[in-house]
Amino acid sequence: MSLSERAAELDALDPLAGKRAEFDLDPELSYLDGNSLGAPPRVVAERVADVVRRQWGGRLIRSWGEGWWEAPERIGDRIAPLVGAAPGQLVVGDSTSVNLFKVLAAAVRLRPGRDEILVDGNTFPTDGYVAEGVAGLTGHTVRRVPAGELAGAVTERTAVALVNHVDYVTGALHDLPSITAALHRSGALAVWDLCHSVGAVPSYLDEAGVDLAVGCTYKFLNGGPGSPAFVYVARKWQDDFAQPLPGWAGHREPFAMSADYTGGQGITKVRTGTPDILSMLALDAALDVWETGTLAEVRRKALALGDFFLSCLDELVPGVRVLTPRDHARGNQISVAWPDAERATAALIDRGVIGDFRPPNVMRFGLAAMYTRYSDVLRAAEGLRELTR
Ligand SMILES: Cc1ncc(COP(=O)(O)O)c(C=O)c1O
Repeated sequence: MSLSERAAELDALDPLAGKRAEFDLDPELSYLDGNSLGAPPRVVAERVADVVRRQWGGRLIRSWGEGWWEAPERIGDRIAPLVGAAPGQLVVGDSTSVNLFKVLAAAVRLRPGRDEILVDGNTFPTDGYVAEGVAGLTGHTVRRVPAGELAGAVTERTAVALVNHVDYVTGALHDLPSITAALHRSGALAVWDLCHSVGAVPSYLDEAGVDLAVGCTYKFLNGGPGSPAFVYVARKWQDDFAQPLPGWAGHREPFAMSADYTGGQGITKVRTGTPDILSMLALDAALDVWETGTLAEVRRKALALGDFFLSCLDELVPGVRVLTPRDHARGNQISVAWPDAERATAALIDRGVIGDFRPPNVMRFGLAAMYTRYSDVLRAAEGLRELTR
């Protein structure tokens, strides 16, 4: 059977084909960048129009009392099952970078007497910058260690380690339960960045005993450009979590307008300022595509898409250097090293295959399984073959 016959057969048998129909996507495009910006579920445009016309335009300021104010916790609870968290431990708002600052600064305060922050050596840059920023304020030092070596690198000086669940360049999946357990054995806290795993790879934060986590919602959760991020604070830390950016929205009685700050109950104290309602309610609508069992189906299909893509590459572009683990210790993306990767990415985009480029020479192909077809990954491999000619 040829690769195109195989792709057509896999697409015809795809149990998620119905989900693709819930997205606004040009059938002529092969969109392989959902790991950077997810595609819009159809329901979003109509819901945002309702928020603008009816809730904002019609109800005006009354809408704050009709669900807007509680949206950060309510939407956090909608994301919670996707990361294996019981309700009351996630809140949505701010960017991942700002939330990283909050959780790292709070984490070091939870571990007095320890003067070091470990950071995953290949981390997305913002995590490293924020860790340095926190360290500069608190007198800690930052040590960068490859994620695979963190378990052996933690010492009694380590207050906290910040680790990416999925490496944004290579797509390697790090072992969240075992790294968390190793950190805990040495008395350090575990902060996980779930940006590249939420909505792609199940994580079981409660079961693994994770302390704190952050993640963004504009990738595999399809929340829209710049949609607000989330913070997870395990229930066990919520009383002691000292909010380093206290703001009125996280106050126990925000509308009492007190001059003194008292943090809100539970996860609420992680809030800082007025929630970004338009983005937040676009995300709320985008979450409608998730039903019980969807994440397991997405993960299963993304691994199958990746396996099929690898077999297409092996046949059509033999010798290509794949940076992503070929076994299933990977997130929902495949990355390849390519000479002049930036130009090659642009050339593929011209042919209707949208992936992205990361310096110095990496082409990334995201496998957002709700809407990515087997024929899309075949087209990407065919495009790469063209470039070698
Ligand atoms: C792993 C990771 N962490 C953090 C960020 C940055 O998030 P934000 O721009 O929302 O602060 C990104 C953005 O792509 C990311 O991939």
